[in-house]
Amino acid sequence: MNLYKYVSDAINEKLGAPVNLEVPRNRDFGDFSTNAAMVMARAAGRPPRELATDIAARISELDFVADTSIAGPGFINIKIKNDFLWNAAATATDIEKTPQMTIDMDYGSYNVAKSLHIGHLRTSIVGDTLNRIAKFLGHKTISYNHIGDWGRPMGLVIAYIESLHPEWPFFAADFDASKINPADYPITAAELDTYYPAASARGKEDEAFLNHAREITADLQNGHPGYTALYNLFLKVSLDMMDGIIAKLNMMPFDKTLGERNASMHLDRVEKMLRERNLLQPSDGAEIVTVRRETDSEPMPPFMFYNSRGADTYEATDLAAIWFRKTEDNPDKIWYLTDARQQLHFKQVFRVAEMLDLFPVENLEHLYFGTINGPGGQPFKTRDGNAAGLLDIIEMVQAAVRRRCEDAGKTLDDETIDSIALAALKFTDLMHDVKSDYIFDPAAVTSFEGRTGPYILYSAVRLNSVLKRANASDAVAAMPAELCADERNLIIEILDFERSVRSAFDSRATDLLANYAYDLCQQINTFYHNCPILREDVPANVRDARLYIARAAQRALSQAIALMGLRVPAEM
Ligand code: ARG
Repeated sequence: MNLYKYVSDAINEKLGAPVNLEVPRNRDFGDFSTNAAMVMARAAGRPPRELATDIAARISELDFVADTSIAGPGFINIKIKNDFLWNAAATATDIEKTPQMTIDMDYGSYNVAKSLHIGHLRTSIVGDTLNRIAKFLGHKTISYNHIGDWGRPMGLVIAYIESLHPEWPFFAADFDASKINPADYPITAAELDTYYPAASARGKEDEAFLNHAREITADLQNGHPGYTALYNLFLKVSLDMMDGIIAKLNMMPFDKTLGERNASMHLDRVEKMLRERNLLQPSDGAEIVTVRRETDSEPMPPFMFYNSRGADTYEATDLAAIWFRKTEDNPDKIWYLTDARQQLHFKQVFRVAEMLDLFPVENLEHLYFGTINGPGGQPFKTRDGNAAGLLDIIEMVQAAVRRRCEDAGKTLDDETIDSIALAALKFTDLMHDVKSDYIFDPAAVTSFEGRTGPYILYSAVRLNSVLKRANASDAVAAMPAELCADERNLIIEILDFERSVRSAFDSRATDLLANYAYDLCQQINTFYHNCPILREDVPANVRDARLYIARAAQRALSQAIALMGLRVPAEM
C-alpha cells in the first residue's frame, strides 16, 4: 500500500483534476495538505479561501478522510482516519509486482589484472541495490559484470610477465598449448596486482616496451595461442578475486560475466552495419565515426572503431555489447553504472547506436556518479598515500568498527563486526545523492548514532529482539480507542515504504531508499522510547496493538535493509 498515491489518486478522481498533494513536516494539522484551491482560484474566478471551503467539503466525503481544515491563504489540511491507517499497515509492504520491463544492468564491471579500487565501490553497491529494487518491483533484470578483459592492459601485463619470465613457453614461436601444465606457472593474486602498475609505469618511460605491449594486445586479440594461454591463467586469478569481492560486499552474483572480449567477438556485426551506412571513415590509420552535431556546445571527438594499430577500442566493444545484449536478452533498457568520467564515452557510444538504429537511445541510460573523497576533500588515499584498493577500504572500516567496540567495552564476534562494517560502508554510499561526490570518513560512518549503517542495524536488532521475545504474529490486532502521535506517525511512515522504493527506482536514486530507512528507524526509536510494549504495567490490549505496529515496522525495515544488501546480526 502506497498511502500517498492512494490518497492522491482518490482526491484527483474526486475533484476531476490533478492536485498537488504535500506531506507536511509537522503533522499536527493534517497528514497531507494541498494548495489546490490556490491553484484553481484564478481560473474559477473565486477567492482562494472560499474555493478551499468547497474543495475541502468534497475531500471530506472520501471514506478514508477523518477531517479537513483550511489554513492561511487557502491551504487544505487532510487528516486520515485512524482505522484506515491501522488496517493498511498490515499490507504496507505487499507490492503489486506487475512485470514491466527487462533491464540489462551493467555495473561492477571490474578489470582483469587490475586491482579493484575505490572507483568500483559505488558501481558495485549502487548497482546491486538498484538491481534488488528492480526485482522487488517485478522487473526482470540481467546483471552484467562487463569485465575489462581485452584492452591494452592485457598486452602490458603479458609484456611484463615476459620480462619477468622470458623462459616461459608462451612467448616461443613453437608454443604448444597441449604441453602446458598451469601449475607450473603460478601467478598469485598479490603478484598480479603489482604487474599492471609496474608495466604501465615502464610503458611511460620505455617506448620499445610500450610498442611491444601494443603489438601483444593486437596479437592477443587476433588469437595468438601463447598469449591466449597465458591470458587464461591470469584471467582465472582475476575472476576468483572478483568473486571474493562480490561475496565480501554481499552482492548478488552476476547473471553474466561477459565483458569486452565477448563483445569483441561480435564486432563484425556492428562493423557491417556501419559499412552499410557508410559511417566508417579512415583517419590516420584508424577507423572513426563522426558523432559531432551542430548543436553540440561541448567537445565531441569522433568515435574510434579501430585504432591505428587495428586493435579493438573500448568504444567499439561497447557498441558491439549493445548488439549482443539486444540479440541475447532483447531488454527494454540498458543501464550502465560508472563514474562521471565516462560520460563522454557513453555519449559517443549511444550516438552511434542511434545512427545504426541499434537500440532506442532513450532506453540507454548512463547512471554516472561522483567520486568518493577522503576526509580532507581530496581523492581518498590509503595511509601510505596510494589510491585505496577496495579491500583496503573494507579492512579500514572493519578496523574502525573494532575500535569503536573496544572503546565502548563491547565484545562482538568477527561475523557481527563484518556485518556492521558492511552496513557502514554500504549505507553511506547508498544514502548520498548518486551524482554528487561525497566524503568518506571511516570513523564517521561507523558511528552507532546518526545517519549511518550501524544505526540502521542497531534499530533493526533491537526491534527484532522485542518481537522475538513477544513471539509476535502477523495477525491484525484490534485497534485501541486512541492512537497516540508516536504510534500514528510510525504507521504513516510504514505506509510510505512503497512510495520510497518506487521513487528510488523511478529516479534511479538509492538515497531515497536509504534515507527512508533512516526516517523509519527514527520513528521506530521514538515509538520504542515513548510507547512501552513489554513493560508489566502495559495492559494486554495496548501491548498487542503496539506489537502489531512494531511488527509492521519490522516488515518495512527488514525489506528496506534487504534491498540495501545489508546483513542484520543477531545482537550488537
Ligand atoms: N571496466 C570499466 C572500468 O573499470 C567499466 C566498464 C563499464 N561498462 C561498460 N560497458 N563500459 O572503468
